[in-house]
Amino acid sequence: MQAWNDYISQNKQRFLDELLDLLRIPSVSADSKYKGDVARCAEAVKESLLAAGCDKAEICPTEGHPIVYGEKMVDPSAPTVLVYGHYDVQPADPLELWHSGPFEPVIKDEKIYARGACDDKGQMYMHVKAFEVMNKTNTLACNVKFMIEGEEEVGSANLGKFLESNVEKLKADIVLVSDTSMISMEHPSLETGLRGLAYMEVEVVGPNRDLHSGVYGGAVANPINILAKMIASLHDENNHITIPGFYDKVQDLTEAERAALNKAPFDLEEYKKDLQVGAEWGEKGYSTLERTGTRPTLDVNGIWGGYTGEGAKTVLPSKANAKISMRLVPNQSSDEISEMFKKHFESIAPAGVTVTVTAHHGGEPVVTPTDSVAYKAAAEAIKTSFGKEPIPTRGGGSIPIIALFEKVLGLKTVLLGFGLDNDNIHSPNEKYDIFNYFKGIETIPYFHKYYKEMS
Ligand code: BES
Ligand code: MN
Ligand code: MN
Repeated sequence: MQAWNDYISQNKQRFLDELLDLLRIPSVSADSKYKGDVARCAEAVKESLLAAGCDKAEICPTEGHPIVYGEKMVDPSAPTVLVYGHYDVQPADPLELWHSGPFEPVIKDEKIYARGACDDKGQMYMHVKAFEVMNKTNTLACNVKFMIEGEEEVGSANLGKFLESNVEKLKADIVLVSDTSMISMEHPSLETGLRGLAYMEVEVVGPNRDLHSGVYGGAVANPINILAKMIASLHDENNHITIPGFYDKVQDLTEAERAALNKAPFDLEEYKKDLQVGAEWGEKGYSTLERTGTRPTLDVNGIWGGYTGEGAKTVLPSKANAKISMRLVPNQSSDEISEMFKKHFESIAPAGVTVTVTAHHGGEPVVTPTDSVAYKAAAEAIKTSFGKEPIPTRGGGSIPIIALFEKVLGLKTVLLGFGLDNDNIHSPNEKYDIFNYFKGIETIPYFHKYYKEMS
């Protein structure tokens, strides 16, 4: 649409500057040190919603970080789009690996470098600006509600309660989310599924204090040796997970589904080169795309214990710890899998150590329909702005709240993500291409237009 393109090009620099301002606020939800910054970021998001044209916008306090809600109702008979995103970000460490400050955004080679540039401030803010574009050009087709949370990166613990107590306020026809990735700008795609998550922490305790590894070594169980062995036993030689019952509810894809999935453009050589790994790795019998999109996994996220300082210290440590997460696929349940893990991990503990397993947050897997009006509107929007039909893919990441949109609000979700797998989300030097940012702003209004027309 000409009016949209004109408005975007006239305001291009401001759209970019505003995002950079948002990226300067270190809204790290996991670290209480940033509580004030998270609150400040919520305030900035609220102000941006009002400035873009929301009739009302408010900060909704929770027991954790606040949720920002805003809306503009244009026509009670028009469909309502509930835009979900998150303004919180992951911790920036390790800081020494960043080429510039994580909260001092810089533009290099047409890319914005900052924590949150892609996940999810950059992608969330595309919706605020697309809404401004539609509002200022008097072309808002649908009613729009925004729900932007500050706890996605820590499991959205308080958002579920917010949904339950605000069913009426959040009444809508579809949830629209940009917090996932595309294959590439040459091969636009739409994610049609997300994996669930079960996140555990384990502790192995041996002797009541650190010991001299010469005086006691060989005669007392070393918790780190034991933990390493226990973790290693969680996969067999085919990289299948060995927890009894783990795969019981996993549905195998049909051959046709597998073939469709594997048709997506994917260059294994490029993939290995990008990551500088000599070989791919994973569950026997599955392709890389199947492994990340359709299979459950188990990964150690962190492991610690004993002496890790400079030089060498001969010590037999008293305890060892690890954080272990499992990605889940339909119909696995986060609670059930957490329970299975706990039982199994405790059962394989040898005499001489005590093992404790605790569960952190989790989330359920989701599959989104590809035969819905909303999916078709998203596909058509992409086709209009990219000139190409999007390829449906299955994403490997998790967004815990999406399953609850369906369960609590009865709403399906469209995952209209514009990130790229190599955007370094959760990693040093996170980036978001300026091109993707504006492609999102250009595409979103078409979604609203087509969604109304097709509804
Ligand atoms: N936006 C990501 C999830 C994502 C990334 C989905 C890329 C698809 C493609 C989200 O912010 C995220 O990081 N989720 C966490 C889960 C959460 C409970 C910490 C994840 O997937 O680890
Ligand atoms: Mn995200
Ligand atoms: Mn994230």
